[in-house]
Amino acid sequence: MSAITNGQQRVTSVAAAAPQLSLLPGAEGAFDQVMLCKAVIALTPDVSTYVLEPLTPQNFTFEPGQYVVLTVEINGEQHERCYTISSPPTRPHLLTITVKRVPNGVVSNWLHDNFRVGQQTLVRGPLGEFSLVNYPALKYLFLSAGSGVTPMLSMTRTLADLAEDCNVAFVHSARSPVDIIARSELATLAGAGLALAVTNICEDDSPEERWTGQRGRLTAPLLAASVPDVAAREVFICGPPQYMRAAHAVLAELGVDPGQVHQESFTLEVPAVPLTAVPDAPAEVEREAGTASLHFRRSGIDVVCPPGTTVLEAATAAGVVIRSSCGQGLCGTCKSDLVSGQVDMQHAGGIRPREIAAGKFLPCCAYPNGDLVVDA
Ligand SMILES: Cc1cc2nc3c(=O)[nH]c(=O)nc-3n(C[C@H](O)[C@H](O)[C@H](O)COP(=O)(O)OP(=O)(O)OC[C@H]3O[C@@H](n4cnc5c(N)ncnc54)[C@H](O)[C@@H]3O)c2cc1C
Ligand code: FES
Repeated sequence: MSAITNGQQRVTSVAAAAPQLSLLPGAEGAFDQVMLCKAVIALTPDVSTYVLEPLTPQNFTFEPGQYVVLTVEINGEQHERCYTISSPPTRPHLLTITVKRVPNGVVSNWLHDNFRVGQQTLVRGPLGEFSLVNYPALKYLFLSAGSGVTPMLSMTRTLADLAEDCNVAFVHSARSPVDIIARSELATLAGAGLALAVTNICEDDSPEERWTGQRGRLTAPLLAASVPDVAAREVFICGPPQYMRAAHAVLAELGVDPGQVHQESFTLEVPAVPLTAVPDAPAEVEREAGTASLHFRRSGIDVVCPPGTTVLEAATAAGVVIRSSCGQGLCGTCKSDLVSGQVDMQHAGGIRPREIAAGKFLPCCAYPNGDLVVDA
């Protein structure tokens, strides 16, 4: 089997095993620390890369595709947002994040307008499971739109740096040619030995450039023409919600097994369950089945948590302050110690397995499974 890219031929053994990226040290190196902005690189009119340097030199370990949580103070208020690490773990001395302005968005616009070389920010991470390390394969398809390109950039840069013997089809959607992120870098990588085929799809021309490539949106005929062996690939999708819905439909139309498809969403949905008051109930009152008693040890507060209520909702309604941000098990802000009891927790990458093993949990996405004592 051979993979041909931009005129270069690279021979890939049929029997070759999927890369295990064994040179990567694994995500054992949690970092929660203040970092310095070392450089700001404008990539497109509304996307910039911020190069972050630790105050004390260190080698970062993370998996390509993982994200960090930035805490920034704006007008005296702290805000936390997740940003994918766009640099690869093979360049471990610095981290980069690549941020797109969101119309009326608080943090993305603040970063663009105020975060300059020499300024500091708190960075926590790495978090998340959206990484090819978890899905070793010989062939990948990266489907991204807008800032959803960032995990794909880290993964592609990693494969290139490690000279991995695998084949990547990278299909990216942008508004116009000027909005394509890392366009020349990816074109260079495609010509530099990695079996990488890049297809950019633009909806429109830019004033500076008439687009002569694929035009419109991602469709099944377009993807089938660009990536004929799509069903043989491990697929990663990241982009706005409508894009991801469309991408799933396109993949289904082309017969791709949903088990091969992995996605990351940058958009946090509003939590389905609104905060409700949790009544303080004396122990003698008969309790609804599934109701749990929660004791918040540091606050000395006891509450009753009805079925379908998260520990965070119960705490908030009882006046116990647990700092939180995403409310979806993503950012790790609400991480707390579970002193006793068990919870059903459906997190989205905001906690590491060894933290769970050490008795930590995320109250925002944890439902009591019996009575609990929480260190809050
Ligand atoms: C795992 C993960 C990884 C991510 N990686 C990246 C990345 O690599 N690059 C990147 O650019 N982004 C990334 N994001 C998205 C990022 O975390 C932020 O969500 C994004 O930058 C927008 O934040 P913001 O503070 O600017 O917008 P926000 O202030 O949070 O606003 C978001 C949206 O809500 C609207 N809005 C805000 N307040 C209101 C209101 N009161 N009423 C109505 N609408 C309102 C805004 O107009 C905007 O459209 C990632 C997100 C996740 C979850
Ligand atoms: S608030 Fe983000 S993980 Fe709980």
